Amino acid sequence: MIYFASDHAGYGLKQELIAFFSLLGKACSDIGTHSGTESCNYAEYGRRAAAAVAENPGAFGVLVCGTGAGISMAANKLKGIRCACASEPSTARLTREHNDANMIALGARIVGIELAKDIITAFLETPFSGDERHLGRISTIEGRET
Ligand code: RB5
Repeated sequence: MIYFASDHAGYGLKQELIAFFSLLGKACSDIGTHSGTESCNYAEYGRRAAAAVAENPGAFGVLVCGTGAGISMAANKLKGIRCACASEPSTARLTREHNDANMIALGARIVGIELAKDIITAFLETPFSGDERHLGRISTIEGRET
């Protein structure tokens, strides 16, 4: 499952992304917000999607706000969430390979729809490398002893 969430600034891009990835046959869940005109709190939606990802091992999350910054910060406060903010596909690929990221955040005021599709496709198609050195570093992120 891919959990999508945004604030009002990211609403339009989120809707386009859900439509695109649903058409490709991906299971998509829309956590909200459900309006592009009603101002809302990006942190609330980032945390809601993060909670869904944390409760469903193997799930991914896609977050969209104006910059991707605020909503990724909110998501990263939840245990087990590793959310990267990306504005190009290389970061999306490397954060899967190295960080085993389970969420990605985009800025609707930073990237257009075609670039956003490419970023998320790179994210979804790249497996975690599983390398020992990366596992150790992820343990440190999670606050575990290495
Ligand atoms: C909303 O105006 C904006 O602050 C928000 O979408 C996001 O960019 C925060 O990081």
